[in-house]
Amino acid sequence: MNAADGVRRERLSWRLDRMAEFGARPDGGVNRQIYSDADRAARGELNRWAADLGLELYTDPIANQFFRLVPEGADPRLPPVVTGSHLDSQPTGGRYDGVYGVVAGFEAVAALIESGAEPKRPIEIVAWSNEEGSRFAPGCMGSMCFAGARSVADLADITDRDGLRLQDELDKTLASHPQMHERGFGLPVRAYVELHIEQGPVLEKLGKPIGLVRGIQGCRWFNVTVEGEARHAGTTPLALRRDALRAAVGYIDELQQALEDPDDVIRFTVGRFDVSPNAPNTVAERVGFSIDLRHPDDAVLEAAAARIGAILSLERGGCRATCERIFDHAPVQFDPDLFAAIGDEGRALDLACETLMSGAFHDALFMADHCPTAMIFVPSQDGISHHPSEFTALSDLYDGARLLTRVLEKVAGP
Ligand code: GLV
Ligand code: MN
Ligand code: MN
Repeated sequence: MNAADGVRRERLSWRLDRMAEFGARPDGGVNRQIYSDADRAARGELNRWAADLGLELYTDPIANQFFRLVPEGADPRLPPVVTGSHLDSQPTGGRYDGVYGVVAGFEAVAALIESGAEPKRPIEIVAWSNEEGSRFAPGCMGSMCFAGARSVADLADITDRDGLRLQDELDKTLASHPQMHERGFGLPVRAYVELHIEQGPVLEKLGKPIGLVRGIQGCRWFNVTVEGEARHAGTTPLALRRDALRAAVGYIDELQQALEDPDDVIRFTVGRFDVSPNAPNTVAERVGFSIDLRHPDDAVLEAAAARIGAILSLERGGCRATCERIFDHAPVQFDPDLFAAIGDEGRALDLACETLMSGAFHDALFMADHCPTAMIFVPSQDGISHHPSEFTALSDLYDGARLLTRVLEKVAGP
């Protein structure tokens, strides 16, 4: 039996529905923040699925989860082929971003086991910790640590909005799944293949079920803090104020104008804005905001980052800004051989494929520095993501999982 024929729509759909229960929002979306109770419960469900399939369970110091299949006759000393994505979501998350890649990994491994396929390498499903970075910024922490770009010690003191420390929340998560075997970062990997929803409009517009992803555009994140002075709103004349909120709004407006791109390729986003003390009758003393900056050309990204630095270095309305770069990755091009192999398998399944670049970042961004890496996309309805209405048709989810199964079988041997 061809392993891809063993992929079962109903099981894939059931697993996605099940995962959407953890952190479910009343509007049908998902809010599953990293190292939260909902995240721990979702991790527990993966552990049960893995145990049912007879997989080995591993974790590491940032609580990435790995589920390892050593097929009959495979050599356990060979570096594994790894597939997966992430379980954490945006606060306004949908039911597919990240979790689809993990669930499809389980479906592919189940199909491989049931078909009696005998690849010569181990196959692992991974659920990376904190891809989104919405509770503890930046994102991609799990893959970043695995690939050696940052250390856990480096990230330990980052706090969430409630002042909770990353290391404390991480420790709670590690302690909640004592049945997992511990292992370190940076283990050799033969290949990493990540299956994900596109999160954009291209595939749907072209009517194609599969995206062959060439690479991922570059990204920088900054934390900006604007310092002013708290004063009484009723008694302090405007001329005497150092209003951090007015200054922050002015900076953002100027940045937006300075980075205007007639081709609409540059992506500049301020998505977090925190005011202190956040009281109607006190002039704002401090404002913190985030900048998410992306472009496929690293030189453009670097020039834009320099503009941001220059604008924020100038005092505004008596207030000063500081700007910390907390995330930085150049654009990546995926491994050409793996990219070609995925295209071959797609054609063998008679699936119409389109080559495209990813506007979103993914853990594949960091894995590309560690091992041959590539990604597969399936369409997103209306290109919507990071929103509860995120949707991909089951037929597309099924095709993506079948293609993933074939790719894993091929790359893992015989
Ligand atoms: C991933 O979630 C991204 O922001 O691109
Ligand atoms: Mn994602
Ligand atoms: Mn996302």
